[in-house]
Amino acid sequence: MRALMLVGGEGTRLRPLTLSQPKPALALVDRPFIRYLVDWVGRHGVDEVIMACGFKAEGLRRALGDSVPGGPSIVYLEEDEPLGTAGPLRLAADRGLLDERFLAINGDLLTDLDLSALQRSHEETGARTTLALHPVADPSSYGLVRRRRSGEVLGFLEKPDPAEIDTDEVSAGAYVIEPDVVDLIPPGRPVSIEREVFPRLVGNGLYGLRLDGYWMDIGTPERYLQASWDILEGTVETELDGTGGPYLGPGAEVSDDAAVAARAVVRAGSRVAEGAVVSESVLLDDCRIGAGAEVHGSILARGVEVGEGATIGAGSVIGEGARVESGAVVEPGARIAPGEVIEPEVAV
Ligand code: GDD
Ligand code: MG
Repeated sequence: MRALMLVGGEGTRLRPLTLSQPKPALALVDRPFIRYLVDWVGRHGVDEVIMACGFKAEGLRRALGDSVPGGPSIVYLEEDEPLGTAGPLRLAADRGLLDERFLAINGDLLTDLDLSALQRSHEETGARTTLALHPVADPSSYGLVRRRRSGEVLGFLEKPDPAEIDTDEVSAGAYVIEPDVVDLIPPGRPVSIEREVFPRLVGNGLYGLRLDGYWMDIGTPERYLQASWDILEGTVETELDGTGGPYLGPGAEVSDDAAVAARAVVRAGSRVAEGAVVSESVLLDDCRIGAGAEVHGSILARGVEVGEGATIGAGSVIGEGARVESGAVVEPGARIAPGEVIEPEVAV
């Protein structure tokens, strides 16, 4: 079974982290984020992943390689221009990569939904496309799906207006698709699968199956942090299986006199000095936290240095290689550009 993963989005809401790295390559706890998706589909019978990565294939290939040990092989599909959420399927099919039933997956999710159940349901109903459905509190930023008890879809509304919302079930961004559906996608231009393809399949072989389980879009710093804790605490099923945290990467050094909370990630080569406090925060590789410094609820990209006694307030995102000098105070919710230097004793 093949799975096509859509990973061509910009990841703008995770800036400045995504300025130096494509979002799928961004480390989440112990591996590049997209690895969780590759591992997940691998657990459900996928042996080849087609990575539809817009035009950023190279950075992703470097982070991920051409296969996952014991898991799927990976081929990279590059678009000359962004082709939307359906165009890459057409491109892959035209290259002979989608001649059998396949999975299509939105590549910005962390989830453990039961894709095997989705495939069984697809087989049983004889659907042409089966959507994984998941309940959410507010469907307005998703694809709303109305359906019969049998799973037959009655309506697909992408980003519905509040007045149109009459169910809590949305498309979870994982689909089983028959190859002939790709014929509905015009070649050579951007096409939205949600706006141009699914509506045409309503009453014509489109089904949905509600799946309960863990499901989260990691597109914002808050959700990126929450996803990290959920991995550490085993709330989502991954190969890591709940270590209870904190996660310390290879070569990470934490002083015995530092306070690193259970909800913390200190990745490879990062160092936390004596008297420092790290709570609900992620330090990506090679960060330096000086003596007595405090980092709360924040994400520090690779190589960030926080000087002695400096404080990083909750909800901040600090770009690669930035330096916060001794005693400086970064106010909550700050965004600091890669390489920026915050002078000693200054508050920003
Ligand atoms: N290769 C490629 N090319 N990928 C793309 C492109 C493109 O031009 N545009 C978007 N993608 C990828 C994004 O990287 C993301 O992984 C996925 O397609 C979905 O795009 P988003 O921009 O994240 O859409 P969304 O989150 O607003 O809505 C989608 O996901 C929801 C579930 O999270 C829709 O599929 C909704 O119906 C769905 O409910
Ligand atoms: Mg999304």
